[in-house]
Amino acid sequence: MPRYLVTSALPYANGPTHLGQIAGAYLPADIYVRFLRMCEEDVIFICGTDEHGVPITLKAEQLGITPREVVDRFHEEIKNDFKGLGISFDNFSRTENSEHYRFTQGVFLDLLEKGHITEKLMKQFYCEKCKRYLPDRYVNGTCPECASLNARGDQCDDCGNWLDALDLVNPVCAICGSTPVQRETKQWFLRLDQFQNWLGKWYENHGEWKKNVLNYCRGWLKKGLHERAITSDLDWGVPVPLEGARGKVLYVWFEALLGYVSSTMEYFAEKGNPDGWKDYWQNPDCRLVQFIGKDNIVFHAVIEPSVLHGLGDFILPWNIPANEYLNIKGEKFSTSRGTALWTKDYLDHLPPDPLRYALAINAPENRDADFTWDEFRSKNNELADVFGNFINRTIKFAHLYFDGKVPEPAEAGSAEEELMASAVRTRDETEGMLRKFQLKAACSRIMDLAREGNRYFDQAQPWKTAKNDPQACATSIYYSLQIADSLRILLAPFIPFTSEKTGEMLRSTSLLWNDAGKECLPAGHQLGTPEILLSKLKKGFEKVMAKGETVDGIDDSNSPEVPIKESIAYDEFMKLDMRVGLITEVHDIEGADKLYRLIANMGDHTRQLVAGMKPYYSKEELLNRKVIVLVNLQPVSIRGVKSNGMILASDGDGKVFLLEPGSDAMPGDSIR
Ligand code: MF3
Ligand code: ZN
Repeated sequence: MPRYLVTSALPYANGPTHLGQIAGAYLPADIYVRFLRMCEEDVIFICGTDEHGVPITLKAEQLGITPREVVDRFHEEIKNDFKGLGISFDNFSRTENSEHYRFTQGVFLDLLEKGHITEKLMKQFYCEKCKRYLPDRYVNGTCPECASLNARGDQCDDCGNWLDALDLVNPVCAICGSTPVQRETKQWFLRLDQFQNWLGKWYENHGEWKKNVLNYCRGWLKKGLHERAITSDLDWGVPVPLEGARGKVLYVWFEALLGYVSSTMEYFAEKGNPDGWKDYWQNPDCRLVQFIGKDNIVFHAVIEPSVLHGLGDFILPWNIPANEYLNIKGEKFSTSRGTALWTKDYLDHLPPDPLRYALAINAPENRDADFTWDEFRSKNNELADVFGNFINRTIKFAHLYFDGKVPEPAEAGSAEEELMASAVRTRDETEGMLRKFQLKAACSRIMDLAREGNRYFDQAQPWKTAKNDPQACATSIYYSLQIADSLRILLAPFIPFTSEKTGEMLRSTSLLWNDAGKECLPAGHQLGTPEILLSKLKKGFEKVMAKGETVDGIDDSNSPEVPIKESIAYDEFMKLDMRVGLITEVHDIEGADKLYRLIANMGDHTRQLVAGMKPYYSKEELLNRKVIVLVNLQPVSIRGVKSNGMILASDGDGKVFLLEPGSDAMPGDSIR
């Protein structure tokens, strides 16, 4: 039996996460892992923050704090982002851990001894003004491959090429902008040239990998692999464990990749099984699956396998399902350039599942995808309309007609047989897709089953049969409930929070993939109370999230926030009891400069109300005025004064107007 070791790229602890990262490396991995767990596979999901290298030191300089403070702060923030989104890592470590230092230094020495690492003098940029060496990102310039002006000393985000800083056209110091000079410095090099042939053969055995990944790999081999420096002159990182290597640290990419291993070590050490990591990393039956964005392909498909192969004993990646970019208006999200939508800003306003769904169904699997709030809203509403609605109406009907129990069905007719067979097909086909990393296709296939469920429900018309054919009604509700439960299972990897809530409503907890398509809810099974699962979003809702920044071309700095409210059903609206009232007394409330105490004639009784009308209406304006009062609201006490209802008014950006019932309305008339 194979087992699975799934990793997501270790995010740099130089900022919080943005939605581009989530869509590329974290959400797809989480969906895959949750699915494997539901298939009862042996799987561990490993990640952590990448806390070294120039991205961290640059951030520290920018914020005027130490690198240590930078990584402590962002490690926590990143961890919270993932928690909020339900990214279910088994271990989330950090490369500042001492275990990681020990392990990476050991690997370095091992490879040195095996002849895969050699020492050499090299030229490196040095800034005479800043009096320091300028490793990788400390130099900016023009990309020698694609002529982009945004290239950095380590790589070009625009074409995805991994660069040597010395090749940059028009190099400038990233700190002061002056032109650096070249100086000689001693570094240690990984002899990638030794792995060229071996890598070529290895790729050939992986024709099933995504095309984009294989194309990149073949491209590098064609250019020929050369030795690459894996140390640099920096004072933040894992020190090179050699005499005469003062002021030098392991190059972040060499070291961070090993963070996958050390995070696994930490995981098992904490479980009291310090050798447990070997059952994964050194077990030929273990499938190492590494989720990354395309800018990381070279590191995971060239450097890491070379290192692991060089060490011997270690398994190699089984698959590297790299994703393309999620763009915003055609441009890459970028932490350093400030064009990003932050996970936290989203989570501060909205629940995780609509985002998970929108990013999964529009995933940048094979080509770049563009994020727009319009698209997000329409996907959110689709989820609410198709899935949410189906669950809701099914459970509601069971409560309406069958006491909240699963009814006893008659024998299945052809419609029922087809429906259940379709659920089984959906389960099996999507299993195939998910195992092949086609998450997007799987998600939309499952939504098709929800659409089928709705069609079945519509055609069965239980609201009619409830009156004239209770048997047929029971049958349709019974099968609808089985499909609801199947959908709960199949969608669990994608929208785990909503799936769980659905489970509470169905009182059903199985998370076995194979239970989908089965009739798991027996007749007589008691259901929970129906609740609104998902709410729709109005146009313009995203302004709430923009916080004065321009998002997707809308400059909203002057517009008010548009509150997001859950939509309610008609019968819920009908519960509101609103009546015409005539204000007969207006009093001040001691110490409250916004409030009045009002007495209103409600036709058959009078009641006391407290309302924040003082800034907008004088006592005279209120006296003898007809207003609309919501009367079946639980009484509250405001400043010690009982308020027995609420007066309705419009509120537009602080301009408040009372709603007028019209001149002929009488106290006590009800509003509909
Ligand atoms: N920190 C890198 C990034 O955010 C990714 C590192 S992946 C690792 O792009 F394997 F090296 F850890
Ligand atoms: Zn400088």
